[in-house]
Parts: sequence; structure tokens; C-alpha cells
Amino acid sequence: MYKLLRPLLFRLDAEVSHNSVFLFLRLVRRIPGAARLLRALHGRRTPRLPVEVMDLQFPNPVGLAAGLDKDGRYIEALADLGFGWIELGTVTPRPQPGNPRPRLFRLPRRAALINRMGFPSVGVERFVENLKRQGMPCLLGVNIGKNSDTPLAEASADYLAALRAVYNHADYVAVNISSPNTPGLRDLQNQGNLAELLRALKREQERLARAHGAYVPLALKIAPDLNAEQIAAVAQLVLEHRFDAVIATNTTLARPGLETEPPANEAGGLSGRPLKDLATDVIRQLYRRLGGKVPIIGVGGVENAADAWDKLVAGADLIQIYTALIYEGPGVVRKIVSGLQQRVRAMRCTTLREAIERARAEAR
Ligand SMILES: Cc1cc2nc3c(=O)[nH]c(=O)nc-3n(C[C@H](O)[C@H](O)[C@H](O)COP(=O)(O)O)c2cc1C
Repeated sequence: MYKLLRPLLFRLDAEVSHNSVFLFLRLVRRIPGAARLLRALHGRRTPRLPVEVMDLQFPNPVGLAAGLDKDGRYIEALADLGFGWIELGTVTPRPQPGNPRPRLFRLPRRAALINRMGFPSVGVERFVENLKRQGMPCLLGVNIGKNSDTPLAEASADYLAALRAVYNHADYVAVNISSPNTPGLRDLQNQGNLAELLRALKREQERLARAHGAYVPLALKIAPDLNAEQIAAVAQLVLEHRFDAVIATNTTLARPGLETEPPANEAGGLSGRPLKDLATDVIRQLYRRLGGKVPIIGVGGVENAADAWDKLVAGADLIQIYTALIYEGPGVVRKIVSGLQQRVRAMRCTTLREAIERARAEAR
């Protein structure tokens, strides 16, 4: 079905077509029985492949990466598609329009996207209202960022404000310091800035956990463009400040093998197939540095079960996708989860974790 629709959608501007699909899905759900049909087509046909990470029970290890539902508008429609969980956002404390359009470009021959969205956001207040209206039909991560006009020196205040606002509405909160489209944001990954930010967020998380009687884990989302030394420094700080997970990775500023591809010279972050190996390499290095003490959510160019498996064996505990959903359609979630389940069975293991641990031991 999606393969039939895709040529039509790809004729539209990329952002217009993404928004139309999800608006359409949201409207279709209002037709009696339509939500049930969607769930039957995708959600229910996705096998259960449970994984426990951050003390949360994920029904399967394939989640939706941040950026597709920035304002928390399409949770119910997305939950029908079989994802193990959904990461919403990035949401900023105050509303902001993001960068001028066009700001999203397709590279169909490479199954890739370039975006310079720049965190368009309705702001945390409206975001939380959207969430309250829909409830929590599946596990939800909320990805938070800073406003583009907040000076870097005051970034912590933005992250703290966003954390407080979304705390009661998230199963975990992802701290995004790795978008390439907010000037200076990635500087927060530098050791001094990062130490201060992580310390402030950890302290606030502990205060909120006491106040609400519920511990909501914190994950840090990093860029694929860090060198080995920077990855080591990030890992050290994550351990020191007892962050609960790392999400690796965001989009890249590099253009691996894309010199001849026309939209490749557009400014922004590259996602999809050309990011795959870069992201897996970061996961591998990070895993070595974290020594398995902090879970990793692996993201970047996953298109099928083999790609997901590579990231799991490299050190990831969970997987996220975004670009593959645009190129392959919603059926890709079920395909990846089914493929992983087949591997677990072929290895005669009872859980995904057991299979990964064995494959990692054999790869050593
Ligand atoms: C159009 C677009 C918008 C994105 N927006 C965000 C965002 O707001 N916050 C974020 O943390 N990551 C964002 N990302 C990055 C994705 O979450 C993901 O890390 C990246 O695309 C790599 O995964 P993929 O190759 O499966 O797409 C965005 C990606 C795309 C393509």
C-alpha cells in the first residue's frame, strides 16, 4: 500500500508530505473501526520481543526516533503502527517557528534525508496539553531542547524548565544536545559545558523524583560527529552523573560518499543509509567506554533487521528509526522486529538479550 502511495507523496515538498500523511492518519482514526484496522494491519502483526531497559518494559526493541512528532500531535496514530515506543519532540520551553522552509530534503537514491528544521516547536505548555488529550497509549520518551535565542550560557535553565514541564508525562526524558541546526547547541557536548548541564539535570531529576514519588530516567542524545576523545569524555561524564541511557546518534554534518548528489550541499543534518556505519561505530566506541553499565539506544540508518542486529551487537540495547519509515512505510517496523525474532529463534535463545550477549561474546 505504502509503495503505491510513495511516488505521489514524493512529488510533494518533503515536509508537506510528512505532515499530510500524519494528519491524514489522525483524521482516519476518527472513522469508526479505522483505528482497529490500522492496529490489525501493523500493531498486532508486530511480534512481541520484550526487552527491559532503564527499568522499563519495552514490548519490542524498535522505537520511533525523535523529530517526527515534535509537538505530540500524532501519538495515537503512531502507536497503532507497532513501535515498541515513541520518542516525541524535540520540544523547547517556549514556542518557536524553526528555520525558514524549505528545510527538509530527500536523497532517494541514497535512502537519505537532509534536514535543518531548527526545532520548530509549539513549546512545552501546548505540548503537554496535546499529551494530556491523548493519554499514553504506549511507552513515551520526550526529547527536550533549548530555544534558539537562549544564549548557550543559559542553556541549562531551558533544559531544566522543559524537564520540569514534561516530567509527569514521559517514561523517559531525552536531552538533545546534538542537533546540528541550532547554532552552538553541539558545543554543549564539550566537557566543561556538559559536566555543568548533566549535574544540573541530575539534581533536578532527583528532586522531581522525590516530589512526585516516581523516577523518570534521563537519556543523553549525542552526535555522530564526535571524535574518539570526545566520545570517551562524554562516556565518562554520563557515568559520573549517573545518566540512565545514551542515544547514539543524531544526524551528521558529514556527507559520506554523497559528493555527486545534488541536495547533498544543502546545510543540515544527514540521516538514513549514509549515516548507518558512522552511527554504529559511535555505538561500538561508546559501549566499550561505558562497559555495559549504561544502556545505549542505537539510531542512524537502520533499514532492516540486519542493520538493527549490527547495532545491537555493537552495543545498543534498543533501536530507533526515522528515515526508513519515510522510505519504506510503516510495515518496516514489523519487518525489523520479525527479523530479530527469527534470529533469536535461530540461535535457540529465549530472549533477545540472551541472543545479543551471546553474539557479542562471539564477536570479541
Ligand atoms: C526531519 C528530521 C527531523 C529530526 N528532528 C529531530 C529532533 O527534533 N530531535 C532529535 O533529537 N532528533 C531529530 N532527528 C534525528 C532523528 O531522531 C535520528 O537521530 C536521525 O534521523 C538518525 O536516524 P535515521 O537514520 O533512522 O533517520 C530528526 C531527523 C529527521 C530526518
